Amino acid sequence: MDFRSFFCCTTRSDRKEKEKKQSTWRIFSLKELHAATNNFNYDNKLGEGGFGSVYWGQLWDGSQIAVKRLKVFSNKAEMEFAVEVEILARVRHKNLLSLRGYCAEGQERLIVYDYMPNLSLLSHLHGQHSSESLLDWSRRMTIAIGSAEGIVYLHNQATPHIIHRDVKASNVLLDSEFKAQVADFGFAKLIPDGATHVTTRVKGTLGYLAPEYAMLGKASESCDVYSFGILLLEIASGKKPIEKLNATTRRSITEWALPLVCEGKFSEIVDPKLKGEYVEQELKRVVVVGLICAHNQPEKRPTMIEVVELLKGEMKEKFVEIENDEMFRCGEARGCSDGASVADDSLDFVSEEKEGVQEIEKVVA
Ligand SMILES: Nc1ncnc2c1ncn2[C@@H]1O[C@H](COP(=O)(O)OP(=O)(O)OP(=O)(O)O)[C@@H](O)[C@H]1O
Ligand SMILES: [Mg+2]
Repeated sequence: MDFRSFFCCTTRSDRKEKEKKQSTWRIFSLKELHAATNNFNYDNKLGEGGFGSVYWGQLWDGSQIAVKRLKVFSNKAEMEFAVEVEILARVRHKNLLSLRGYCAEGQERLIVYDYMPNLSLLSHLHGQHSSESLLDWSRRMTIAIGSAEGIVYLHNQATPHIIHRDVKASNVLLDSEFKAQVADFGFAKLIPDGATHVTTRVKGTLGYLAPEYAMLGKASESCDVYSFGILLLEIASGKKPIEKLNATTRRSITEWALPLVCEGKFSEIVDPKLKGEYVEQELKRVVVVGLICAHNQPEKRPTMIEVVELLKGEMKEKFVEIENDEMFRCGEARGCSDGASVADDSLDFVSEEKEGVQEIEKVVA
């Protein structure tokens, strides 16, 4: 696939419009990126994901960048690269990581972003920064609301609408003020106007996958809502989406949190690292909204616009309605108990499904 073809088939006015939107990013030369990252030195490596490694770098003007370098060159990876660049070039929002540029020389494919000095939410919740406890409650609330607003933009304001498909803690980056920047649209899928969902091969990360998506490959905005619900529970509790209890048993964060919510034991859910310093009403909102987002039935999940309002405490009646949902009734708790565990218990099933669904990749209107 010719990456340039994404940009060559536009009319003059389209081009002008694009130039206006894209004026803040540019093409980098490989030489420039080699110089910025000290030849992709191991010491500059920030981490590694599905696409390849990410390196810290500094440009000649002193500005800091993060460079994502494609691991293996293939048509599929080339496609993902093109998708990520095409999507990133379209989106501009205070809570979405914006593109600084790209490089496509020979078989090298690189994407250049602003460097986020506070790295990812994952590194603070479970990784190298977790012991420093830099995420106080107010930062967590700002991150939760900010990342929800970024996803609202993708779902409702971007044209065409975008499903992220890989909402998770490592894809929420934090700027110097701990403001959330949702990253990684390489997995995203554009939704044509009028389509309700897109049938596609399963991508994403176990523990965050909505059951209907993991099993049937049905991607829609509500899959992102599900993943975001898991992220909210993670932000509140500091727990991972899936916990290994012993060699054979795993428990999803929803299976753990739901019974506690039913019994009103919110203080047992909150991250102990907060040492009791949190706003009770806000914690309740984050946890209850997180669980309803991660409901097994997609139609029970709120939209991301509602999620933002609920988190801000602006939809009091809707919140009471959610609290009274049968899922939160003691003894008959159901709704989100088997989502993550189905995905987790059936790793093989998911990957088999992945291949199967790939065959019928098409848009369902
Ligand atoms: N702009 C950036 N600034 C700082 N750190 C970044 C930046 N972009 C990515 N990282 C970090 O680099 C690491 C690798 O990122 P990458 O997106 O490749 O993988 P991932 O998010 O772990 O998995 P996936 O491939 O599923 O997205 C992550 O820890 C991520 O937080
Ligand atoms: Mg990522």
